[in-house]
Amino acid sequence: MADKARVAVMVSSEGTNLQALIDAQRAGLIDRGEIALVISNRESARALQRAEKAGVETAVLRPKDFGGQAGFEEACKKLIDSKDIDLIVLAGFTIILSRDFVNYYDHKIINIHPSLIPAFCGDGYYGLVPHEEALKRGVKVTGASVHYVNEIADGGEIIAQKAVNVEEGDTPETLQRRVMEQAEWLILPVAVAKICRRIVKERQKRV
Ligand code: GRF
Repeated sequence: MADKARVAVMVSSEGTNLQALIDAQRAGLIDRGEIALVISNRESARALQRAEKAGVETAVLRPKDFGGQAGFEEACKKLIDSKDIDLIVLAGFTIILSRDFVNYYDHKIINIHPSLIPAFCGDGYYGLVPHEEALKRGVKVTGASVHYVNEIADGGEIIAQKAVNVEEGDTPETLQRRVMEQAEWLILPVAVAKICRRIVKERQKRV
């Protein structure tokens, strides 16, 4: 559809951020975007069920089926390009993509990270780790960030951030949940909506 940007979401697990995107699209918040494809590297990812329920096309692409990461990335590229995707959202995607891949999609890949970058981010900071480290350090405020993906882990240009208070007695799990509810599920759909509007606007200028 010419007046909508086509979005692919890459996932590995629960898919609550994917769900937030699906809900935002349904609610009309993502008015210039369409979630057109969900790619998972894990067959058992709950995110796949969420996508199927929403009628979104899914694909399971596993590095081991393509002889490793390089073959996997080629397969992703082939699929993504065949679907005319304008924006790729990494939403709980656990594979670190190669420099070649991210350069190929320069400023077309965004990621959601559960901390206020540059705190608690980079290699190894996935799952509960950012929250464990935030609690260890004793910060009173943490949050989430949406950023463009470049060759440095969590190092690309920041698009949006939202702060979340750490509370007395927090565990990594309670903090993770609060960061999701109060930050991730809000800022990711807003960022996607904004980028989709810009993509469509730029496309309309060109014709
Ligand atoms: C989220 O905390 C996200 O910030 C991080 O991985 C987690 C994915 O959760 N990158 P979900 O699969 O979206 O529920």
